[in-house]
Amino acid sequence: MESSIASAPGKVILTGEHSVVYGYPAIAVALGLRCKVKASYQDEGLTIRSKDLNLIHTYSLNDLQHIEQKLTVFKKFDNIAFGAFLAMNKKPVGINLEIESEIPISSGLGSSAAVSVAAIKSISNLFEQNLIDKEISDLAYQSEIIAHGTPSGIDNSIATYGGLLKFEKGNITLNKLNFTIPLIIGNTQVQRDTKKIVKNVKDQFDHFPKIIDPILKTMGELTENAENALISGDFKKLGELLDINHGLLSSLGTSHPKLDDLIWKMRSMNVLGAKLTGAGGGGCMIAIAENINTANTISKKLNEEGYNIIVTNLSPEGVKIESN
Ligand code: PMV
Repeated sequence: MESSIASAPGKVILTGEHSVVYGYPAIAVALGLRCKVKASYQDEGLTIRSKDLNLIHTYSLNDLQHIEQKLTVFKKFDNIAFGAFLAMNKKPVGINLEIESEIPISSGLGSSAAVSVAAIKSISNLFEQNLIDKEISDLAYQSEIIAHGTPSGIDNSIATYGGLLKFEKGNITLNKLNFTIPLIIGNTQVQRDTKKIVKNVKDQFDHFPKIIDPILKTMGELTENAENALISGDFKKLGELLDINHGLLSSLGTSHPKLDDLIWKMRSMNVLGAKLTGAGGGGCMIAIAENINTANTISKKLNEEGYNIIVTNLSPEGVKIESN
């Protein structure tokens, strides 16, 4: 085999971001937006090229060992490079990776984990090693540590398995996604740093443990309710829970004026509920509409007004080989 192309989906967290870091549950769904990574052989080093970012960087074996020691070499790609290095069994094989992605970056839609997962899958397929999904997700988790410090593991899991996923204390419950959700995603296009926001919440937790801990616990309880509402198709209840979740997330300082603007805009258009998704501080928000037609009408209207609204299906499919 000369080359191998794998793809993996992005995600949105429906409820439970931040509280998940403290052991409470979170639920996430895989999106129809995917990234593709093509792996092929080259003489030496690991070259990563992103068409969308218009960036290219070649790592030597020494560089890759530096990343392992938590040193920065080329910040934008270090996490992907580390995942690739692990998939190469840390051997100095020459590998070229080409990335093409539909998933907006630094927006909370899991683009970095999706790229790592697709890179690991394409390399393992090129090596005819055929890692199983659990192995791919575990290696991608190591690359998420490089990107985010203390990731919960949601992003690498959902990019690997797809569908609907409940995540609690490192345990994953997978659900086939055999229903659609009238979901609207709004992108503020404000880039943010997950690591920094997670740290801010931790600082607040350390400062006011008796105040912050009950908020996180309530978020956990809210996620249990949201899961039931989602599975029983009670979108009205799910919407109410999203609104409450946004209030709680705001109290942790994770919102942003542009997120609040989009959230209130959508509420004025009678969505059933809206909240930020992912780390916050910019990135994306989500809203639940009454049905798919209403979701499409609202998305179209807001895109015409100049907002960046992402219309996408959900995906039952996780990482997969596209072609050899
Ligand atoms: O914004 P994202 O997709 O990086 O999500 C971060 C979600 C957090 O719960 C804040 C952190 C985590 O690792 O789960």
